[in-house]
Amino acid sequence: MSREIVLDETISVPRSLRDCFAYVADFAHVEEWDPGVRSAERLTPGPPRTGSEYRVVMKAGFSLHYTVVEFEPQVRVLMDVRSSVFDAREEILFDATDEGTRIRYIARFRPRALLGIAARMAPGMMDAVGKSAMRGLRRALQDAYTAPSDPSRHERCDRLVLPGMFGFTRFGYRKAKRRWKPVSARLDGRHIVLTGATSGIGLAAAHTLAAMGADLTLAGRDGSKLAAVVDAVRSSSGNASVRAETADLALMADVNALADRLLSQGRPIAALINNAGALFNPRQETEEGLEKSFALLLLGPFILTERLHPLLAQAGSARVVNVLSGGMYTQRLRVRDLQNTRGTYSGSAAYARAKRGLMILTEEWAARWRAEGIVVNAMHPGWADTPGVESALPAFRRLTRPLLRSPAEGADTVVWLAAATEAAQVSGLFWLDREPHPSHISDKTRESGEDRAALLAALEGFLTEGPVHPDTQRRGRRSKG
Ligand SMILES: NC(=O)c1ccc[n+]([C@@H]2O[C@H](COP(=O)([O-])OP(=O)(O)OC[C@H]3O[C@@H](n4cnc5c(N)ncnc54)[C@H](OP(=O)(O)O)[C@@H]3O)[C@@H](O)[C@H]2O)c1
Repeated sequence: MSREIVLDETISVPRSLRDCFAYVADFAHVEEWDPGVRSAERLTPGPPRTGSEYRVVMKAGFSLHYTVVEFEPQVRVLMDVRSSVFDAREEILFDATDEGTRIRYIARFRPRALLGIAARMAPGMMDAVGKSAMRGLRRALQDAYTAPSDPSRHERCDRLVLPGMFGFTRFGYRKAKRRWKPVSARLDGRHIVLTGATSGIGLAAAHTLAAMGADLTLAGRDGSKLAAVVDAVRSSSGNASVRAETADLALMADVNALADRLLSQGRPIAALINNAGALFNPRQETEEGLEKSFALLLLGPFILTERLHPLLAQAGSARVVNVLSGGMYTQRLRVRDLQNTRGTYSGSAAYARAKRGLMILTEEWAARWRAEGIVVNAMHPGWADTPGVESALPAFRRLTRPLLRSPAEGADTVVWLAAATEAAQVSGLFWLDREPHPSHISDKTRESGEDRAALLAALEGFLTEGPVHPDTQRRGRRSKG
């Protein structure tokens, strides 16, 4: 070992002590703010605390193993660092100032042979690395980014189907990630309602949103599965504000009852995430007589969002995130056959048409609610390896498995749209990997103005009349259930 090298850098940022501590103390965020870091992950379960361990992979090609040895919330974090290049002790100290927070970073390196020689030959090298990391941290905490807002940037690539589909894979995710800005926003005290949180993308989103401090309501159809998820999310995040609401979201009686309960609780909703979904083959109807893709993927989100609008408006600024699918690109709205009764039924087509319908609602709500500070966006998670894909598309999964993203990677843009400060700047768009994409890649799928109006009228009919099939309604007959 050569002699110790000490870096000691201080920055001041106009953010609360609580925000700064929460962001920096989860050292996995270092990949967002230190330009020398390629990736970072927490290796230990539960929230950051004494004993937490992290693996940090540097762009220079070596990795570091961090262990938190002392953790005093809002005051300091002390970490031991081991690597093949150096060992270190890194201490981060926090204190509140009149303008915000001062953060002091002290690193004591004990370089191994090669780094020791390099450091002696270029004494300013380590200093420059430390300064650039702290500049990155200051920018991350200033959180003054502009959201991309031009979907036409991706239009040509998306129209060329194969390059577009590359973007859906985990390689597309990794490529896009290089352009992302840090997300240091906190959600403490912000009430978020998330559907379909018991599995896949919704489950991954629930863990991240809870870690960001959200006051979470998780809606799902299976009470015992939900209870287990609530426990798991509370313990992974250390956030006790996670509640469950049981509702089968393909049954409009349940959707309405859920809306009634949330309205009677009266808590403003800062974000509603319509994520629950499934693909149905063969054609199935609910006990209310509604075709299931239509019920779960279009009518349910429509009724829930419309009915929760007063709570969204009360939040002052609120977001709606609709989880759609790139499959939507293949289908045009069939407004006279919303329940997929005509021709040969295809589960994938019914699914894609329902998602297309929810894209139209996204645009309509965005325009209608802009003045109330409610932004409404839709997103495609990419192709993620979830229980839903495994059960609905086993052959697709077998073929594409090496290309599939993790559920957390699929959930990333859900979380970004619900949480990132800059995501409040844009509304009515379709997103993949934090960038807007066109909502159509072929003119053949574009609906007319009359079709849009007819869709709204048909859905609004269900809102006022309850779960009645429009055809049976015309004939004056209630549907089953
Ligand atoms: N994975 C992908 O590659 C991909 C691609 C494009 C779009 N998406 C969309 O992403 C969303 C999440 O899908 P996923 O892949 O994460 O699927 P998943 O693992 O099957 O999760 C779906 C979630 O929706 C819930 N759900 C299904 N039917 C419900 C109902 N009737 N009432 C209440 N909750 C219900 C499920 O609850 P249970 O746990 O009780 O089943 C589960 O929590 C869906 O909207 C899907 O269309 C996924």
